[in-house]
Amino acid sequence: QQFITDQEHSTTDESLPPQQSKTSWKCDPYSSADEFYSVAKGLRASDSDSTETCVNALKGTNLTGRGGAGFPTGLKWEIVSKEAEPEKYVICNADESEPGTFKDREILHRVPHLVIEGMLLAAMTIGAESGIVYVRHEYGPETRILRSAIQKAYESGILGESARGPGQRFDLEIFVSPGGYILGEETALLEALEDKRGEPRNKPPYPGQHGLWGKPTLINNVETFALVPSIVHNGPEWWEEQGIHGFSGLKFMCVSGDVRSPGVFEVPMGTTFSEVIEMAGGVSDDKRVKAFLPGGASSLFLGPDKLDTPIDFDAVRKAGSMLGTGALMVFHEGRDLYSLATNLTQFFRNESCGKCVPCRIGSHQAVTLLESGGLREEDVEFLGELHETLQETSICGLGQVALAPVLSMLKNFPEEIPNDVI
Ligand code: NAI
Ligand code: SF4
Repeated sequence: QQFITDQEHSTTDESLPPQQSKTSWKCDPYSSADEFYSVAKGLRASDSDSTETCVNALKGTNLTGRGGAGFPTGLKWEIVSKEAEPEKYVICNADESEPGTFKDREILHRVPHLVIEGMLLAAMTIGAESGIVYVRHEYGPETRILRSAIQKAYESGILGESARGPGQRFDLEIFVSPGGYILGEETALLEALEDKRGEPRNKPPYPGQHGLWGKPTLINNVETFALVPSIVHNGPEWWEEQGIHGFSGLKFMCVSGDVRSPGVFEVPMGTTFSEVIEMAGGVSDDKRVKAFLPGGASSLFLGPDKLDTPIDFDAVRKAGSMLGTGALMVFHEGRDLYSLATNLTQFFRNESCGKCVPCRIGSHQAVTLLESGGLREEDVEFLGELHETLQETSICGLGQVALAPVLSMLKNFPEEIPNDVI
């Protein structure tokens, strides 16, 4: 199956060269372009079983998926490797669309070779001949950088005929997402690749068993693939040492909102949200934090009392939210949280694909209520009941979380409700 690769809708014509020398990122094991792909080349040349090597390394680190859901990566790779069907696929989900999330863009820009190498290691692990990078349609410059890196990898024999070993091919191509938040949901992505309407499928079965064209398909996020070469190279102990305060590993954080220098930061797991805000230059306008979203639009609002929470999936869950994509959005004292939360609900309403009636109608009802200007106690109760219905009846994450941010705002910051009569 050949995919159309020329439908880019770039926001800019700028074409930037890929990174050729060492980044300051700890997840980058290479000091120059000459060394690129050494991990995969070493594994290819050795007698070791690549499935065992990669699965053991990933399981040993407890690496969890960086697309937002945090499913154990080693387990996912193992599940797909055990599938008997010989036709399998590796897909990199680069359709980064969660509001506040822009780390994958930076990774594709600076270290495209690590993403390619992570996918190649995945192909060696599960036994796949084909891979696809499914990239966000606005990421024109990154798509060009990636395409150039893929071409170089073909020219040097990293990809192609003997990519996984003598006579064992692995081909990689780019598919530009038709566009739309829901098309980044992994099963809607599969539908789009199959040239169907981009709506999520019911899960289970998960793509690991029944994915592209009904075949076992390993889907991981850009950051997840980019972390794999250094993990396979350095091993679980190295990974553990990267964390601080008893946490292990690294995390890319996207920091935006009311900070002086928004950006992407690779931080040790265990770093606190306060420390990440300091890395981003501190809160802007010399104000204090009123609230923050730790993991993008799908996460729950937390107050300043939670700023010392360590960056870790479980720790953020215990604090009452989720780390999600690692998109820290900071709101200072001057911000109207009610408007912000209403805006997020409008976003989910607009992006609902409409397949599930409760998500389609319920998100619209919620927006109508929030836009009415003030909420009575029974309105807040109604929103809570609506949220429960959406959680139980929605087939994908969008409907399941659509009302969670606004409810967390209403619960944690009741003083923000306009014309509040509670
Ligand atoms: P999910 O929990 O359904 O699945 C996570 C991953 O684990 C999937 O790849 C799934 O196939 C796999 N999986 C789960 N259970 C499995 C099982 N029993 N056997 C085999 N594989 C299994 O979560 P989903 O819907 O994929 O992702 C939701 C998250 O995505 C949200 O929490 C949000 O943070 C994030 N998100 C990220 C966006 C981005 O731009 N990166 C955009 C929107 C949401
Ligand atoms: Fe579409 Fe919403 Fe159903 Fe997801 S929950 S499939 S976005 S209608």
